[in-house]
Amino acid sequence: MGRSIGKGFDRIVFMYDTIARMASFNQINKSQLAFIEKLSTQSTSLVIGGGTGYFLQQLLKTNRTIRVTYVDASAKMIAYARKRVAKQLPKELHRVTFVCKPVEELDPAGVYDVIVCNYFLDLFDDTQVDTLMRSFNKQMSKGSLLYVTDFSIPSNRMLRAGTRIGLRMLYWLFGKAVYLPTRKLPSIDPLIKHHGLTVIHSKLFLQGILTCTMYKK
Ligand SMILES: C[S@@+](CC[C@H](N)C(=O)[O-])C[C@H]1O[C@@H](n2cnc3c(N)ncnc32)[C@H](O)[C@@H]1O
Repeated sequence: MGRSIGKGFDRIVFMYDTIARMASFNQINKSQLAFIEKLSTQSTSLVIGGGTGYFLQQLLKTNRTIRVTYVDASAKMIAYARKRVAKQLPKELHRVTFVCKPVEELDPAGVYDVIVCNYFLDLFDDTQVDTLMRSFNKQMSKGSLLYVTDFSIPSNRMLRAGTRIGLRMLYWLFGKAVYLPTRKLPSIDPLIKHHGLTVIHSKLFLQGILTCTMYKK
């Protein structure tokens, strides 16, 4: 399944950044950086579904020694991210290991100080997120962080209804473009907590339609 999604994202890589910026008043990018300053001391990171590399570039700037394993199922996304770092931060390229693979096929052998999933878990259903969390847990030691930015359902009643409609449209559109296996937002926060992680920082954007959360094991 991850392989066909990867091919789907290959098709939209050239316009991904523009769509993300325009559809969210640049909040999709901004929200990912909410707690990036708190990632200045970690030694190792696993960034999953990192896309065109916006977050990667900021992470390498914020933390001058971190080593990053950068995983994405789309070969074109990986190529774009690598090119971005090579152009903007050429001296830092050696700190990144690019892996073009669906996360489901990753060997969960390594242990990381922080695992990053920005606008990634929304591509899966509850069962798949649960399976991913089981695997992440094996790749985290006590004190490791999970950094998640994604869509969420706001607490305000009016906004909640509007967000549900907006998300339905987004899933329909994206579903067509990238062969999404799901059509609805999974219960990301409850599933992560179910695996024993606790929230240490959380910030809402666009009145709660987007949330950046840092969890600790
Ligand atoms: C919605 S984009 C998010 C990109 C970036 N994190 C951001 O916030 O802008 C999702 C990314 O996950 C990648 N992806 C989708 N399914 C995947 C899978 N099963 N394993 C690894 N990467 C996957 C896509 O190729 C795409 O780059």
